[in-house]
Amino acid sequence: MGNHIKQQFQKVFQQESEGVFFSPGRINLIGEHTDYNGGNVFPASLTMGTYGVARRRDDQEIHVYSENIPETGVLTFSLDDLDYKADDNWANYPKGMIRYIIEKNYHIPVGMDIYFYGNIPNGAGLSSSASIELLTGVIVRDLFDLSIEMLDLVLLGKKVENEFIGVNSGIMDQFAIGMGEKDHALLLDCQTLEYEKVPVHLDGYVIAIMNTNKRRALADSKYNERRGECEAALAILQKEKAVDSLGALDNEAFHQLAPLLQEQPNLLKRARHAVSENQRTLEATAALKENDLLTFGRLLNDSHRSLKEDYEVTGKELDTIVAAAQAQPGVIGARMTGAGFGGCAIAIVPENTYNQFVENVGRQYQKEIGYEASFYQAKIGDGAKRLS
Ligand code: GLA
Repeated sequence: MGNHIKQQFQKVFQQESEGVFFSPGRINLIGEHTDYNGGNVFPASLTMGTYGVARRRDDQEIHVYSENIPETGVLTFSLDDLDYKADDNWANYPKGMIRYIIEKNYHIPVGMDIYFYGNIPNGAGLSSSASIELLTGVIVRDLFDLSIEMLDLVLLGKKVENEFIGVNSGIMDQFAIGMGEKDHALLLDCQTLEYEKVPVHLDGYVIAIMNTNKRRALADSKYNERRGECEAALAILQKEKAVDSLGALDNEAFHQLAPLLQEQPNLLKRARHAVSENQRTLEATAALKENDLLTFGRLLNDSHRSLKEDYEVTGKELDTIVAAAQAQPGVIGARMTGAGFGGCAIAIVPENTYNQFVENVGRQYQKEIGYEASFYQAKIGDGAKRLS
């Protein structure tokens, strides 16, 4: 991979490159829509991701090219004007990142050329945008020798998403992509940012990623709507009890307060998901640590049900693929992963029947939905870093 993209860099920019970088995509094992509710998440970085090849320029310009989106050609902007522009398309992600690094008072004396190539399926909810943000972060840090911590790059990536792009997302994606480690998932408390690396050993099982190939249309506006509903629910509960976030409540405490939301059934459902999902995340992590895969799998199934019934972010495609996966012999659990409204689901599948699983679920999905799903075996790799 390294050599191919180095050669491509040279073709596009007519110069030798200075370094090759990689930034993963992510899956979330459990803990969905809990990050912005001050709860826990349990994601892992993938070996799939975005590669970047870069070199410094001797002027103030930044030239970026993506092998995945050749139709936009080389997009150009300048260190002197790092405002969001719709015409800059995907280049707004690297642009926003560079802008916020500079606003943090790090010195970027000259511009750069960057060649991007990603093998994360686009729009599938595996965080290709956070992958580009963190990739840009490690490239800039390395090229200009900035002493900026990975956690700061993670926070700046989130800021790009929230303030530059306008999606009100939480910290999970950038955190998983920046801090991930091979063969580990991260149990992250999104309120305190304390985290723990938990080894993922699934004796005899693999994690299947199932892409519904349903584009996440309207996902951003629905996402922001859910977030607003959770904030509204919290505000009502706060009239009765001093509580910082929905993530601070356990099921029992929530049960006591739930009558306050009686008149707003939607808010009740959204909050119930946020609270119960957070509890499931803690239980699932404990189960995985104890190698209790059956409990882990059951909690994955429960998570999907809650996302379907209470949070209402699944939709026909995700529900169909997850139900088909859950019905396969030997599968211990399946659920949607990421924001929902299309995108991907995951399943824990016996290694020796993986091919059969793909065939069966694929066939059933095609029959019910009318187009194909795609499947990948998830491999957990390192977070964003320089490769050579
Ligand atoms: C998206 C967001 C994350 C998180 C998930 C849902 O991936 O970017 O911050 O909220 O959805 O868990």
